[in-house]
Amino acid sequence: MTKIISITNQKGGVGKTTTAINLATSLAAINKKVLVIDADPQGNASTGLGIEHENRNPSLYDLILNKDFDESSVKETIVPGLKIISANTDLAASEIELADVKNREYVIKSILSKIKNNDFIIIDCPPALGLLTINSLVASNSVIIPLQSEFFALEGLSSLIKTVDLVKENFNQDLEIEGILLTMFDKRNLLSSLVEDDVRSHFSEKVYKTIIPRNVKMSEAPSHGKPALIYDVNCPGSVAYINLAKEIILNQR
Ligand SMILES: Nc1ncnc2c1ncn2[C@@H]1O[C@H](COP(=O)(O)OP(=O)(O)OP(=O)(O)O)[C@@H](O)[C@H]1O
Ligand SMILES: [Mg+2]
Repeated sequence: MTKIISITNQKGGVGKTTTAINLATSLAAINKKVLVIDADPQGNASTGLGIEHENRNPSLYDLILNKDFDESSVKETIVPGLKIISANTDLAASEIELADVKNREYVIKSILSKIKNNDFIIIDCPPALGLLTINSLVASNSVIIPLQSEFFALEGLSSLIKTVDLVKENFNQDLEIEGILLTMFDKRNLLSSLVEDDVRSHFSEKVYKTIIPRNVKMSEAPSHGKPALIYDVNCPGSVAYINLAKEIILNQR
């Protein structure tokens, strides 16, 4: 059984890609077989996992265009046990191309159904609630919602939850919210704690105990084409993502 998790929030810059990369790396570190799907035309997950632009094809765009899986789209990363299907800017066109396709919500699901032998597939969604995100949610067992621990964190969350509910009602009745993750938490900043209290009071047990701290190593790592866990395994951000992976594994039981 493969567990498919979308990392989703239509708000930009909340830590989706950082979470996708470092959660996937943490799971691979405990010997899980993990595949990251870069479903964002920005290609940040591909860059952060060290995939050069010339090594991204066939990309997710090609698979969507052909509506078929192609084994050669699966690239090795520097992390043992962690592979990726990459994205590049072409993928932006698939938002338009998908619009005319029959069963357009199911294209990624049908591609992923042909990929075997993974314990986890982690989908890094773009900052939008368009067809790429809908396709990702339709293909997933669950969704992790990263929330930046800052003012406006909860803004937009109700439309995201509405979208998850719509996908559940219409396309994927088993879709669950895996958890809400507070990211970029600054313990010296009172606002971070206020946001935490607010989020926990609204969503109680759905909010992970693990909180991802704001940590400069997390933002340096992608420029080296490495997950933070490889760049500096002992930095507070890396330790937090290892704890998140543990929490997720325990929740599966
Ligand atoms: N815990 C952290 N500490 C410090 N910087 C962080 C942390 N998490 C993410 N960042 C930085 O914040 C920026 C946004 O993070 P990231 O790219 O993961 O967000 P995103 O939600 O995927 O953005 P987008 O919506 O553009 O896809 C990046 O520069 C990233 O390196
Ligand atoms: Mg991103």
